[in-house]
Amino acid sequence: MPPNTDEDGPTPADTLVERVHDLAAGGPRVVLGIAGCPGAGKSTLAHWLADRLTATGLPAVWVPMDGFHLADVELERLGRRHRKGAPDTFDARGYLALLRRLHTETGTVVYAPSFDRDLEQPLAGAIPVPPEARVVVSEGNYLLLPQDPWPLVRAAMTEVWYADLDDRVRLDRLVRRHIRFGKAPEAADRWVAEVDELNAAAIRATRHTADLVLDTAALPLTPR
Ligand SMILES: Nc1ncnc2c1ncn2[C@@H]1O[C@H](COP(=O)(O)OP(=O)(O)OP(=O)(O)O)[C@@H](O)[C@H]1O
Ligand SMILES: [Mg+2]
Repeated sequence: MPPNTDEDGPTPADTLVERVHDLAAGGPRVVLGIAGCPGAGKSTLAHWLADRLTATGLPAVWVPMDGFHLADVELERLGRRHRKGAPDTFDARGYLALLRRLHTETGTVVYAPSFDRDLEQPLAGAIPVPPEARVVVSEGNYLLLPQDPWPLVRAAMTEVWYADLDDRVRLDRLVRRHIRFGKAPEAADRWVAEVDELNAAAIRATRHTADLVLDTAALPLTPR
């Protein structure tokens, strides 16, 4: 990224970091949410933001909604394995309970689950949120959905941003990631078209309700 001079004004990256510093100034822990379509760059953005906040004196931790994927064994039981990733394939109320704990249990370590992409399963107790964490950067597809119980999730967040990305770039990255994690190219194309993009339509409809819409292509993000 070119150096940021006064003449250039603040970069989009600086603006985001400053915005969170303002939200946190002198107040309680901030729980920030990043919503957006599959492959829009939410996880990459959330990691980058947590690192930048921590580096600028505001200790921050990444906590993904993806940790609340139902396990395959339960999806099989429900007959929903073929729609893994749809809103009803997450433990939304478990996620809500965690978000509420992150506001109230600030004197002790709170453990959050992650999602292991090799196992394609949630992993309990994978992410420690220590008392020093002043900001939690959470992210997931459905933070802005109007259906119960997602509005309660929204209410448990200080702000929710919407991560946008040109659909052509997004779909290309999504297919590539499915292939990288073991799907055959045709199966990856099919999964994106038939599963991911069904979910994307519902997510896109929530864009206008975000506190901020940002283009992830305008940020200095590097894939992890
Ligand atoms: N700036 C970038 N340049 C190239 N590839 C990127 C960039 N940012 C993210 N990616 C890649 O694009 C894919 C999607 O990014 P990411 O996982 O952050 O999106 P997401 O919104 O969290 O997706 P999902 O909803 O499926 O969890 C990943 O494979 C990631 O490595
Ligand atoms: Mg992600």
